[in-house]
Amino acid sequence: MQILVTGGAGYIGSHTCFALLEAGHRVIVLDNLCNSKVSTLDKIKLLTNKEIIFYPLDVTNESSVDSIFLNHRIDAVFHFAGLKSVSESVKKPLEYYYNNVVSTLILAKACQKYNINKFIFSSSATVYGRNKVPFLEDSELMSATTPYGETKVISERILTDVAKANSEFSVSLLRYFNPVGAHKSGLIGEAPNNIPNNLMPYITQVAKGKMRKLKIFGDDYPTVDGSGVRDYIHVVDLALGHVAALNNLLPGVNVYNLGTGKGTSVFQLVKAFEEVNNVHVPYEITNRRSGDIAECYADVSKAEKELKWKAKLGIIDICRDAWRFEKKYEV
Ligand SMILES: NC(=O)c1ccc[n+]([C@@H]2O[C@H](COP(=O)([O-])OP(=O)(O)OC[C@H]3O[C@@H](n4cnc5c(N)ncnc54)[C@H](O)[C@@H]3O)[C@@H](O)[C@H]2O)c1
Repeated sequence: MQILVTGGAGYIGSHTCFALLEAGHRVIVLDNLCNSKVSTLDKIKLLTNKEIIFYPLDVTNESSVDSIFLNHRIDAVFHFAGLKSVSESVKKPLEYYYNNVVSTLILAKACQKYNINKFIFSSSATVYGRNKVPFLEDSELMSATTPYGETKVISERILTDVAKANSEFSVSLLRYFNPVGAHKSGLIGEAPNNIPNNLMPYITQVAKGKMRKLKIFGDDYPTVDGSGVRDYIHVVDLALGHVAALNNLLPGVNVYNLGTGKGTSVFQLVKAFEEVNNVHVPYEITNRRSGDIAECYADVSKAEKELKWKAKLGIIDICRDAWRFEKKYEV
């Protein structure tokens, strides 16, 4: 298939481009590089020995998006492009609503206009808000805890309504838990353009000496050791989950949790990282962050059963691969 991948130069998008190319698909990337570098695409070409068509454009620009659909026969759309910092979204809600919701609207509209019926959307465990863990796909989405989470809830609703109106439209809403790790080559990984918001790049940058101390937001949650608990999924497993979702896409709305089903606390992750890589990660405890919840992990039985997909890599692989990438990575 020929697949349009928005946000394909970013962290999860780049690993998914790799997996799609390895699975024999062709890939067109649309990315405005606001949180990524074009060199990532060159690295994927190097790893796969395959071409990638690249458009350095903004998905919120309707005429740019339209021109891509006009010029290429597209079989499926993978929509990764989005702003992803939960904490930044609290400070800049309009930027987040605009970028993340308008991009989904424009892509859905283009799919309708050009009769493209396969759509894979990057959703997030944040849609579950303060539901009870483990999160199940059929939980009621009461309210996400941040504007970022709301952009995912709204995008899911838009795509669900498109599917209701058009029985041929197939959409997969993939709710990621906490993607971490990097490709084993150490060539692609998570390399945010600014100060990292996610825990793992923060840990690796502190370990490398790029930043002085890791900030741990709260040690008084009702969890195993007081720090927040998350379901860390290796990005390579996550990328393969996308290929499985494409292979098993049914007409209508397909919702899947992509996680491991296991919770790991921040302290446990830092300790594992130090032990696996034999490095020290100094940290300090600061206040809880607005919108953060105590525990977040998935029930993954639906994806395992219907997609025949299961995360294979664990915390040790995650820590080792993330560190290999950071050590190799030059800005
Ligand atoms: N990383 C996570 O923890 C996580 C968890 C759940 C869901 N997600 C979602 O997965 C998707 C990918 O996340 P990621 O971690 O790879 O983030 P990322 O920032 O590495 O990648 C997103 C990419 O989209 C691009 N982009 C953003 N807005 C754009 C626009 N308007 N037009 C064109 N390109 C644009 C950025 O330049 C970047 O390359 C996002 O939608 C994110 O919300 C991420």
